[in-house]
Amino acid sequence: MRKFNFSAGPAALPEAVLQKAQEEMLDYEGTGMSVMEMSHRSKEFVDLAAQAESNFRDLMNVGDNYHVLFLQGGASLQWAAIPLNLTASNQVVDYVDTGAWSQKAIKEANKYCSVNVVASSKESNYDRIPDADGWRLSDNAKYLHICSNETIGGIQYKQLPNPSVPLVADMSSDILSRPIDINQFGLIYAGAQKNMGPAGLTVVVVRKDLCGQARADTPLTLNYAVQADVDSMSNTPPTYAWYLAGLVFSWLQQQGGLAAIEAQNTAKASTLYDVINNSNFYSSPVQTQDRSVMNVTFTSPDAQLDKDFVAQASARGLVNLKGHRSVGGMRASIYNAVPQAAVDALVEFMHEFENERG
Ligand SMILES: Cc1ncc(COP(=O)(O)O)c(C=O)c1O
Repeated sequence: MRKFNFSAGPAALPEAVLQKAQEEMLDYEGTGMSVMEMSHRSKEFVDLAAQAESNFRDLMNVGDNYHVLFLQGGASLQWAAIPLNLTASNQVVDYVDTGAWSQKAIKEANKYCSVNVVASSKESNYDRIPDADGWRLSDNAKYLHICSNETIGGIQYKQLPNPSVPLVADMSSDILSRPIDINQFGLIYAGAQKNMGPAGLTVVVVRKDLCGQARADTPLTLNYAVQADVDSMSNTPPTYAWYLAGLVFSWLQQQGGLAAIEAQNTAKASTLYDVINNSNFYSSPVQTQDRSVMNVTFTSPDAQLDKDFVAQASARGLVNLKGHRSVGGMRASIYNAVPQAAVDALVEFMHEFENERG
């Protein structure tokens, strides 16, 4: 029996994708082998990789003026790759601090260049996106970095900034969850393991004119121009994760694309936030306007009740609802592959738990 999996990542994958992978596990399209066993230079793999990229471009409406790269190392390695590719060592970059993932990106970038934190919501315990009116942008920044969705805190930009320098966004936990205008961005990056596939793959979309000036000591596999030149195959790419991401992209197209998936995601999130808003028992630590559609964080009146909630939910097949260890409480990650039925089952349990313990 499959469970309703609210994991923040690696996270639930569409069942149809897993079934397709199962069907093709031993024999991919008559090749007599699994994709896992195939050379990344084989025609079959090169074709499926190109098809996955083409489907991703189609979903995200990415034009020819951007490279789409399929890399390794997670979003974490991009925290170094971005300054290495986009700046010289003494240059200034702007970062907005909206929580744990922004902070990590800032810390890493500081090793390579001079980071100006333009705004932070740390003082209010990361309960909001700092009001854009108060941002202290540098006049010489090479780019502005944001994390579009803070997976741990559960806060998300509803309105994206429009700076005069290239906008760089960590979209690990909300890529492909809603339509965006890629032309607003210089670069976006995301680990695959929330909305795209299994762990091991990192997708980078970078405007072509920003490539080609990487520092001389940039590792080969992190150099965007080099990787773009060889279709992300300067070394062995994460072939199976790439294949699975391709299946997810096809599945998304079958769902009707990003506008359709956004409607589903909004409905799921509203179902949960409605319960929280109408309850004296549950509460959200995040200001209403910035609440994430992907990671719904909430608490009950005390830490022991939170613990009981997570344990009892788990016992009935609603798993991975524990909040991140740094913040406690509960977190329901409701990425694209989590069905409305999972959210409905969670809401039913929330009502029961409140009636019993409230
Ligand atoms: C928003 C965000 N950025 C970065 C990361 C780190 O990603 P990775 O583990 O792929 O390096 C995560 C992981 O959960 C994340 O949620």
